[in-house]
Amino acid sequence: MNRLFFPLLFVLALLASCSEAPKTEKAPQDAVEEEEITLYTHRHYDTDKAIIQKFTEETGIKVNVVKASADALMQKMESEGDQSPADLLITVDAGRLVRAKTKGLLQAAESEALMKMVPEHLRDTDNHWYGLTKRARVIVYDKEKVDPATLSTYENLVEPQWNGKILIRPSSNIYNQSMLASIIAHHGNEEAKTWAAGVLQNLARKPKGNDRDQVKAIMAGEGELAVINTYYLGKLLNSKDADEVKAGEAVAIFFPNQDDRGTHVNISGIGVAKYAPNKENAIRFIEYLLSKEVQETFAQTNYEYPVNPGANISELLQSWGTFKEDNLSLTKLGELNKDAVILFDEVAWDNGPTS
Ligand code: FE2
Repeated sequence: MNRLFFPLLFVLALLASCSEAPKTEKAPQDAVEEEEITLYTHRHYDTDKAIIQKFTEETGIKVNVVKASADALMQKMESEGDQSPADLLITVDAGRLVRAKTKGLLQAAESEALMKMVPEHLRDTDNHWYGLTKRARVIVYDKEKVDPATLSTYENLVEPQWNGKILIRPSSNIYNQSMLASIIAHHGNEEAKTWAAGVLQNLARKPKGNDRDQVKAIMAGEGELAVINTYYLGKLLNSKDADEVKAGEAVAIFFPNQDDRGTHVNISGIGVAKYAPNKENAIRFIEYLLSKEVQETFAQTNYEYPVNPGANISELLQSWGTFKEDNLSLTKLGELNKDAVILFDEVAWDNGPTS
């Protein structure tokens, strides 16, 4: 009886597995509809909303977005610990990503596709973070008052010819901190401090406002040069506010340090959270953001430079011309952030010029 019974069981089992096949095919579809990832982001641009929406349409993966400053988000991740719902962290500079890695808030995201899409100097050596977009911190000048031939380097901004003419935002801003970190990396703390003190004395006013406000101040005749991230000029030129367009049109971009190390660049970047509940889909999201198409959207609608070398830049970015960029390791910017903050305090940057 056993000899008949067991083959029969085998046949029944086989039939059962065949009849279950359609069910297992259907299951992932159901699961896709319920899938979601949680994104902690410091990016504050409308472009991102549309990109995220398209990702959900294409993949069925819902994206829960939590927006705050990188410091606040990192603090949140720290206090949440292994219960954190965060799958991904986006910051608007490399320094904060380096800090997140050091604090053990990120994990390696291994992906051959990402390796191909992000040049080595724009990603972490252990794959804890990847650059998403590049931004150059440049000098913009009043087209009517400044001859670009008189501009050269960041170092040149301390020269007496610029006394009372430079506009720049406060030191609490990460873009300024990373720029000073790059000066420290190239010249050492002491020289960097002398530089910061020199620029400070050449300021047209006490540092205030954001990058766009500096350009508007040029338009208002308060100064002749401003230090800003390139994409803010794109935003002004494409603004619905006619005065902003006018301000953007009054200035031109100068890429500093073209005859030596190149213009200071930073990134907006992304990393997978240490305790990501949905790691696989989190990596899928990063791959999506770095795809040629999305990279071109960043360039087209937020005026940032793509990280993926295969992506084309927009006409406006092309009109600004090509430039040599400082290839200083972005990790270095993070490591020197603290020194930059201390140094800005030591020269009392936010109090403005004393003379
Ligand atoms: Fe920004």
